[in-house]
Amino acid sequence: MTEQTLAGKVAYITGAARGQGRSHAIRLARAGADIVAVDVCAPIAEFSGYPMAEPEDLAETARLVESEGRKILTQQLDVRDLAAQQRVIADTIATFGRLDIVVANAGVCSWGRIWEISPEQFREAVDINLTGVWNTIKAVVPPMIEAGNGGSIMTISSSAGVKAPPGCGHYAASKFGVVGLTKTLAVELGEYGIRANVLLPYGTNTPLGTDTSMYKLFEEHPGFVYSFPPNLLKTDGLVEPDEISDVVVWLAGDQARVITGAQVPVDKGFLAR
Ligand SMILES: NC(=O)c1ccc[n+]([C@@H]2O[C@H](COP(=O)([O-])OP(=O)(O)OC[C@H]3O[C@@H](n4cnc5c(N)ncnc54)[C@H](O)[C@@H]3O)[C@@H](O)[C@H]2O)c1
Repeated sequence: MTEQTLAGKVAYITGAARGQGRSHAIRLARAGADIVAVDVCAPIAEFSGYPMAEPEDLAETARLVESEGRKILTQQLDVRDLAAQQRVIADTIATFGRLDIVVANAGVCSWGRIWEISPEQFREAVDINLTGVWNTIKAVVPPMIEAGNGGSIMTISSSAGVKAPPGCGHYAASKFGVVGLTKTLAVELGEYGIRANVLLPYGTNTPLGTDTSMYKLFEEHPGFVYSFPPNLLKTDGLVEPDEISDVVVWLAGDQARVITGAQVPVDKGFLAR
């Protein structure tokens, strides 16, 4: 997909320093969009078994977007900070004059049985994965409506947002919430020509997706492993971020102009099993 289908458009991506978010930034830029990329770039996830991105990662995303010939604005922020997201969206409008595409992608994962995790671990998942997405929506929607250009908002939930796995009930609860939020959003935004769709990735090749801290739970509760079966396709193994970006670029553009309120699995058939 090298065609410049998104020329003249501007995309805001959260969690864009690495992983899926960086891939979406590069691919949306390649399709012609200018990019606003934000990420916390700090060790804020107390309960995750893998590190968060670092400032150098966000700088590398900027370099990669610029090498596609597009402009990029970057900002270190925590999606839990509504005012910070509102400020960067105001900067986006001041710099680029518009906002067309949003990928609410920032998220964290941690492991533990529901009654054994602490209140703090539960709150961390919900505050970042669900309230963080609501903050993004609250920051982006008013200026998008005011611009009157329509647009495409994508939220990144998970297969765990429709099929709850053992060992991460707090994560599943936050991701089920993202599905509900997005589907209501699609209904409320229809009259403005703004589409809203939710993506449901399964195991994807990123630091979150290759975190091995879940193995301890599998050793203690071997039955849990049956909730994570192999996918249906011959191309077994993790999904690559670039394969999720294929779907993001499609949903961002006019080829998906009749798609809104959809839950889009990007999981090699995991949810069908
Ligand atoms: N990798 C998988 O297997 C998988 C599967 C299903 C869903 N997802 C979802 O995909 C999204 C992207 O994750 P990924 O796989 O690229 O993982 P990742 O850890 O590589 O990337 C997530 C990025 O979000 C950033 N981030 C985390 N908390 C933040 C906060 N509070 N504010 C701002 N930025 C923050 C991190 O620094 C990191 O750069 C997440 O929402 C995740 O839940 C991932």
